[in-house]
Amino acid sequence: AATGKVPLPADDDEMSYGYGKIILTGEHSVVHGTHAVAAPITLKMKAKVWDHDKGVRLLIPRWGVEQTIEFGADHKYSIFKSLEMILDHLDLRNRSMNIEVFPEVPRAMGMGGSAALAVAIIRALNKHFELGLGDDDVRRLSFESENIVHGGASGIDNTVSTYGNLIMFQKGTPPKMETLTLKEPIPIVIGLSGVESMTSKMVKQVRENAEKHPKWYEQIFKQMDELALASKNAIEKRNLSELGMIMNMNHGYLNTLGVSYPDVESLIEIARNNGASGAKLTGGGGGGAMIALCDSDKMQKKIQKKMHEAGYDALIAEIKPSTP
Ligand code: MEV
Repeated sequence: AATGKVPLPADDDEMSYGYGKIILTGEHSVVHGTHAVAAPITLKMKAKVWDHDKGVRLLIPRWGVEQTIEFGADHKYSIFKSLEMILDHLDLRNRSMNIEVFPEVPRAMGMGGSAALAVAIIRALNKHFELGLGDDDVRRLSFESENIVHGGASGIDNTVSTYGNLIMFQKGTPPKMETLTLKEPIPIVIGLSGVESMTSKMVKQVRENAEKHPKWYEQIFKQMDELALASKNAIEKRNLSELGMIMNMNHGYLNTLGVSYPDVESLIEIARNNGASGAKLTGGGGGGAMIALCDSDKMQKKIQKKMHEAGYDALIAEIKPSTP
């Protein structure tokens, strides 16, 4: 709940955005160089910067955060570390300001919340201090932030968060990204396990195992790469049964990598039992969220209802070529 001490900004026009995301296929393997496909969702992180008399104050009323940044302190939350890096990088460390964040993306649910938070804050700083940053600068700086939060990030989250497009992605400097076309949005349900996703822990675990057993893991990553590449045609032709199969197979590999979670498996079972042609973990795993591919609004509502009945939160969303 809002603290009441801070006046709410008048309207959305003053806000800067970072988009939340889902990964359709290829999380984790993308860290090891494969392709992956991700889409923006309508949920965003919104931020606004305004004048303050002393210091840098971060306000996230919805999360109960209201704190003046202590530079160089041993920060409990990685957001403060990342904010320090961003301010240093932009040469704003000695300026005074309020940074207020309005989060729509659920925290630590594998929906790109941390990347979207960085993107929204960088854009809000850019606007307030008229820094002249372009989208590419925002993407690069939010990638640095992702590396602080997650360590060894591929860059897919902050890239989708910056541009807000449905993309085929491959990591690199700069990363490769191809915008995919889609005639009509594809309905999905996002099921939330209610358990925080453990992205950095899972990324680390997969890396350690891949180093131990390079031969086995190379084979798996190669299969995951093929699925991601094949998904382009299925998406652009809107072939939902094929896309569903790709997602189901991709989930099988994510299981092989050991990044799923019991509640995520329960949600996947609910989705598949109620007609979803594909259902898989999305994001870092170890908790977090899953997505279910639906062929109609009716199926979407039914699956959402079944998830609610089982005690889970579930969101109705769409895969779209871009998000306003
Ligand atoms: C997290 O949304 C996606 C991962 O592949 C990590 C990354 O690509 O940085 C698990």
